[in-house]
Amino acid sequence: MDRGLGRGINIGNALDALDGGPELPLHERYFDEVAGAGFDTVRLPVRWSAHAAATAPYTIDPAFLARVDAGVHAALSRGLNVVVNVHHYDELCAAPAAHAPRFLALWGQIAAHYAGYEARLGFELLNEPHGALTASRWNPLLAQALAVVRASNPDRTVIVGPADRNDVAALPALAVPDDGHLLATVHYYAPLDFTHQGASWVAGADAWLGRGWEDAGDENAVRDDLAGAAAWGRQHGLPLFIGEFGAHERAGMDSRARWTTFVRSEAERLGMSWAYWEFGTDFGAFDPERGSWREPLRRALLGDPERTA
Ligand code: BGC
Repeated sequence: MDRGLGRGINIGNALDALDGGPELPLHERYFDEVAGAGFDTVRLPVRWSAHAAATAPYTIDPAFLARVDAGVHAALSRGLNVVVNVHHYDELCAAPAAHAPRFLALWGQIAAHYAGYEARLGFELLNEPHGALTASRWNPLLAQALAVVRASNPDRTVIVGPADRNDVAALPALAVPDDGHLLATVHYYAPLDFTHQGASWVAGADAWLGRGWEDAGDENAVRDDLAGAAAWGRQHGLPLFIGEFGAHERAGMDSRARWTTFVRSEAERLGMSWAYWEFGTDFGAFDPERGSWREPLRRALLGDPERTA
């Protein structure tokens, strides 16, 4: 993996699924679809915290590790980059001091397990730190987690993002450790009343149904947000990776395609790599039932097939 991840997609809600939420089986053929469509990267969110012991040494369930391995191998064997993260560790965000030792122990195990893997595997320390895991608590913890990873993986690409759920506005509060192999990540879901309209986990989101995305004000907001992130990246000499962006299936497809095209093109214009949220569930660019891409979203992400072939 060089420090750019190109064009990517999250295979979300597979290894990170929440109880009662959408769940995607991790079929090999999905990786064929992703590679065949022309993506460079798969971000593979993993909810390690739900599959590891609650007490020291916090051993990861070997059967679950084997499932993650299957996803990692499926991506690497098709020539894709793959990013493995720690996803949905909400207990850590609620009680950072109590969970920090477990978080670091998880990284100790993950890093040791994948130490011999090729450079196209990257690690992302934590998805969307939030709640009590504020910047002042997250900055020292991320430095500790990076040190744990570096003990076994001196050169591997490691991705770090700011508190406040990896919000672009939180970048200035991110303390970047001195390390030659980092990427910075942000997530982009603005405006939330468009991208999360009808989302069951966002209070009041049903009132947003019908919100389109089209006017110049909408475009300017995206432009400004991403330009701010790009300026921060230049200042810190760090390439930026928009690790998640997407609009929920309950938003209108025309607006979803326009928003996705615009965010994706702005990101590329600013030299950022990206990964769409997500492959095959409630934001899905791919329809697992029909076994085909949702063409407006596929085109928004990758353009004309002949240009990406
Ligand atoms: C979460 C998903 C959610 C998405 C958009 C992700 O980080 O894991 O559950 O659908 O963000 O809100």
